Amino acid sequence: MKFFVDTADVTEIRDLAATGLLDGVTTNPSLIAKSGRKIQDVIAEICAIVEGPVSAEVAATEYQAMLREAAVLSAIAPNVVIKLPLTPDGLRACHILSKQGTLTNVTLCFSAAQALLAAKAGASFISPFVGRLDDIGQDGMELIADIVQIYGNYPHLRTEILVASIRHPIHLIQAAKLGAHVATIPPNVIKQLYHHPLTDKGLAHFLADWAKTGQSIG
Ligand code: E4P
Repeated sequence: MKFFVDTADVTEIRDLAATGLLDGVTTNPSLIAKSGRKIQDVIAEICAIVEGPVSAEVAATEYQAMLREAAVLSAIAPNVVIKLPLTPDGLRACHILSKQGTLTNVTLCFSAAQALLAAKAGASFISPFVGRLDDIGQDGMELIADIVQIYGNYPHLRTEILVASIRHPIHLIQAAKLGAHVATIPPNVIKQLYHHPLTDKGLAHFLADWAKTGQSIG
């Protein structure tokens, strides 16, 4: 499973890239707004840190304007993925960009039908938002299971399932058990993945016993 980080915070991205665990980055207009920086500047800086796919989202809602914005964003770096909303215009732009060989990420997916449309439009990635579905009392992970099953029925569909709106480690584990290709994870959830109280307790015990030996290695 590939791990993307869902942030436009370059300091966080640099730290995570150093772990060797980071396969890509996703941003959205809210994350860019939070960074307080110009989208071209922040995406260029992220692409210089991370070799993998870096999603940058268009802000236009009409397909020709989306294509114009996509051209600006694609020119930033070869690993920019154009993120498009799951609307008729977004899918139309996705179809054109995909035919041109541009990587695309169709976002704001909340149903299996929408995921099927995105795959037919040639999306490189589909982003179903599990946390936001959970928030309204629906089961976000059920959507992932449906998309895995549907895409699995049609092996010619090349769209990768990018699980988004992840809120906690259990979302990630469930998505991995279902075989989703990618998870885009907020930095705080990535940090949570490392922790287990028995690891901390076990390490403290080992270090205490080691200190009693009076040895040093090397
Ligand atoms: C995905 O690409 C989105 O940026 C993101 O996962 C949305 O998550 P949120 O529901 O926590 O805002």
